[in-house]
Amino acid sequence: MDIVDPAVEHYVRSLLDRHDEPVLLEMEAEAEARGFPIVGRTVGATLEVLARAVGARRVVELGSGFGYSGYWFSKAVGPGGELHLTDGDPENQRKALDYLGRAGLAGPVSFHVGDAVGSLGALEGDFDVVYNDIDKEGYPDAWRAARGRVRVGGLYLCDNVLWYGRVTGRDPDERTPAIVEHNAMIAADEHYLSVVDPIRDGLMVALRIE
Ligand SMILES: C[S@@+](CC[C@H](N)C(=O)[O-])C[C@H]1O[C@@H](n2cnc3c(N)ncnc32)[C@H](O)[C@@H]1O
Repeated sequence: MDIVDPAVEHYVRSLLDRHDEPVLLEMEAEAEARGFPIVGRTVGATLEVLARAVGARRVVELGSGFGYSGYWFSKAVGPGGELHLTDGDPENQRKALDYLGRAGLAGPVSFHVGDAVGSLGALEGDFDVVYNDIDKEGYPDAWRAARGRVRVGGLYLCDNVLWYGRVTGRDPDERTPAIVEHNAMIAADEHYLSVVDPIRDGLMVALRIE
């Protein structure tokens, strides 16, 4: 199910043409060719806007794939920032460092291969943004691990929280309950002010307020 009318999605995407850069286009082409689930241009640009809006200098991603979402966060934090990418697949580390290096965006990047929640636990300190895009069954544990690691005034962001409409009870699959649990925990958390941006497949935007 399309959350946003495809014509509207297409229009919103068309406003982002000025971001066309050879490496970004290459990454988008790889995702298209392999059917690899990157966030895509509209969510990518949203991640950069949100990270810049909170003045992010220290960001961690849970589930980075080959670095597409990292591309946008790297632009946001700048070369003097800190961007931790995580993925279970070492081939994604190789690809991400190659792509981001060629795009001139590898400066702030450290890539951690292994379980993303474990990698977060091994890092010290708070983050301006924690972004979650791991396997959906892991969303509740990722939130539990992340919620105390975002600084007050920082953001927890998470992709696919509408799960193509399945969270409404329509045609649920085995991953839907974990996403529903994740979303409900965040909505009820008084340390956060949160909303789902229904862009693409739903982006959770949760601002830590205390
Ligand atoms: C949806 S893709 C990420 C796409 C990426 N955020 C982007 O938009 O470019 C999910 C990635 O997370 C990784 N992954 C899933 N569960 C994980 C986990 N528990 N720990 C580490 N990596 C995980 C997968 O290997 C996959 O590359």
